[in-house]
Amino acid sequence: MNDAHAAPRSVGVVVVAAGSGTRLGADVPKAFVQVAGRSLLSYAVERVTQVAHLARLVIVVPEGHGTATALGDVAPVPEGTVVLPGGAERTDSVRAGLAEVGEVDIVLIHDAARAFTPVAVFDRVVAAVAAGASGAVPGLPVVDTIKAVDADGTITGTPDRAGLRAVQTPQGFDAEVLRAAYASGLGATDDAALVETLGHHVRVVAGDPLAFKVTTPEDLARAQRLVASWAASVD
Ligand code: CTP
Ligand code: MG
Repeated sequence: MNDAHAAPRSVGVVVVAAGSGTRLGADVPKAFVQVAGRSLLSYAVERVTQVAHLARLVIVVPEGHGTATALGDVAPVPEGTVVLPGGAERTDSVRAGLAEVGEVDIVLIHDAARAFTPVAVFDRVVAAVAAGASGAVPGLPVVDTIKAVDADGTITGTPDRAGLRAVQTPQGFDAEVLRAAYASGLGATDDAALVETLGHHVRVVAGDPLAFKVTTPEDLARAQRLVASWAASVD
């Protein structure tokens, strides 16, 4: 591990874009929803292609969406980029992508819905894994007070906010660790949780408000304002 900083390590990125976007309620799958004339997926991939030491890009899209539809407005992508269909749940889509990521040292799993995540966030995640963590995820301090509740809505606890983080993607892992975690057959709500469950060391690095997930129509409006503000600052 001591030479981890010296040797650049190869990075594979799986962009999961196979969800339907039920909460957004658009007439196309969420990754293909347009913001200023471009798909959310295209914004996500544009950033991923700038990640240092990127060796392999895998894009997981809804069943029935071929490479042409998926990459229609995503150009250029690195040679060897793979587009493949996902599954019913996000974990199924991650599993499908992971199977095609090939021989890389570090794997990043990224939500297409977090289309505006700055490249610096990717770089921080990679750096933490390259420095020896089994996994690293971006996170932000929690601004609201979080309550634990039971099934009746009665509060059972108030965790100290100082020790909480709201996590984002990309979530990055030592490739062997992540493969073993997915092979274990255990289930978890996110990729980091699966790796944590197996007792590995997963770190939180600084996230970014721009890594917000487009989930609801309000989030899409935020995305539109964001891109419009960039266009205005260029003019
Ligand atoms: N995702 C996926 N395959 C699935 C479900 C989700 O690849 N079966 C991806 C989505 O495309 C998204 C990311 O996982 O980029 C995060 O999921 P989420 O924001 O929940 O997207 P959707 O599942 O599409 O939205 P919803 O839950 O509102 O239906
Ligand atoms: Mg979902």
